[in-house]
Amino acid sequence: MKFYDLREFIATLQKLGQIKVVEGASCDLEIGAITELATDLEGHPAVLFDSIKGFPEGNRVLTNIISDTVRERLIFGVAQELSDREAVIFFKNRLKQYEPVDPKEVGLAPVKENVLRGDEVDLGRIPWPKWHERDGGRYMCATSVVTREPDSGYINIGSYRFMFINKNTIVAHIGSGHNGDVIRKKYWEKGKSCPVAISLGQDPALLLAAGTNLPWGSSEYGFAGWLRGEPVEVARGEYTDLPIPATAEVVLEGDMLPPDQGEEIEGPFGEASGYYGGGARPAPVTKIRSMLFRNKPIILGNPPFLGGDRTILYSRALLVWNELETLGLENIMGVNYSGCRTIISIKQAYPGHAMRVAHAALGGTAGYHARFIIVVDEDIDPYNLDEVFWAVATRCDPETSLDISRRTWSYKIDPRLPEEKKSVGNYTSSVAIIDACRPYHWMDKFPPTTKISEELLKKTEEKWGEVLRRG
Ligand SMILES: Cc1cc2nc3c(=O)[nH]c(=O)nc-3n(C[C@H](O)[C@H](O)[C@H](O)COP(=O)(O)O)c2cc1C
Repeated sequence: MKFYDLREFIATLQKLGQIKVVEGASCDLEIGAITELATDLEGHPAVLFDSIKGFPEGNRVLTNIISDTVRERLIFGVAQELSDREAVIFFKNRLKQYEPVDPKEVGLAPVKENVLRGDEVDLGRIPWPKWHERDGGRYMCATSVVTREPDSGYINIGSYRFMFINKNTIVAHIGSGHNGDVIRKKYWEKGKSCPVAISLGQDPALLLAAGTNLPWGSSEYGFAGWLRGEPVEVARGEYTDLPIPATAEVVLEGDMLPPDQGEEIEGPFGEASGYYGGGARPAPVTKIRSMLFRNKPIILGNPPFLGGDRTILYSRALLVWNELETLGLENIMGVNYSGCRTIISIKQAYPGHAMRVAHAALGGTAGYHARFIIVVDEDIDPYNLDEVFWAVATRCDPETSLDISRRTWSYKIDPRLPEEKKSVGNYTSSVAIIDACRPYHWMDKFPPTTKISEELLKKTEEKWGEVLRRG
């Protein structure tokens, strides 16, 4: 669904009763804790913080934008009436027809309503919350960060957290292997700083595109345009000349300096894994040279909180699924990619099918598979963890159905990566492949499950259902 900007998205949430307004909260832990409380309320509402302590009325922070399926479907353009499974299939098939929609350059850019340059820059004018109790500082955690590859001019957008240091200095956490990391290092190898433009709030489609592991060379603007059904409007940055989202609330432009020109301690931060895994370590600083913002800007926050992620359409799972199909792997019935593990359900067609699927997922670029890939048969719902663990407990023979893939891609926020590996930059890990499918070569002799057939259940419901309900 198309939202012109974050304000139009908020207005839609207000109409749907999907948002709570909280006035008077402080950036010092209160905004974070209220956000976490709201994720447990019925409907898991988004929260708009206004009149934030120490800031003028109208300088707002919006959180919890995709912690509920209603809002997720709104952004992904999927009908609310569909069941979860139908919604997943619908969006997966839509993704297969993906065609990038190029951004459109416009003259009028609301984000340029206010422009501060050089010494005028003061990052303290906008709220930087301290989200979790053990965070090492105050953070922006739902950014859309634009960089340009120095040789080809390819424009990349990723979402990375930034910690506040002082009025014109921040420090980034960008995982190794991300395109943004590869790009900044190309500048640094030439002894140059990497120009960067950081959007802090805009139509949520761009955040979702920025957070999606698109292959090297793909356009996140193109992906966001496709998602919203209309080109993203962009304007030229004042300092970097990078294309910036014209309807953004705030854009910070500057330079990511090479590590030998200054580092600051970054972290710890309460991460998506549910831990402070990345710890606190030196990281190269980013100097902000210009600050563009709308009147009464709204900062978008999407802090990770345990249990706050209820997304099922978030395109990584579906991109993994489509990657498998593009490789020609048949009978993929479902992919549940969340909570640091991947569960793939297949209808086995030949011996070795399950392992082929697991290795293909590991070799793809759409997912980061953390520590476990679990492959289950088609009768197991990959979204139902009780069913999945029942299959693991009853169909997997640990002696013969577990494999370990070593030296796989990981990054420093991985809570299980030992310090001796982190300290030498060895961000590789291992992934266990759990084949929880019935062994293909004696599937027909595998004991049938005691599940009552759909047919008998339907007949029973017709005859006895009312008695039960009355009962
Ligand atoms: C809200 C949000 C916050 C994120 N924070 C970070 C982060 O701090 N550091 C990081 O490396 N990746 C983070 N990610 C994941 C990356 O944005 C994602 O993997 C993206 O595809 C990387 O883009 P790139 O490969 O184009 O650099 C975040 C994603 C989202 C949606």
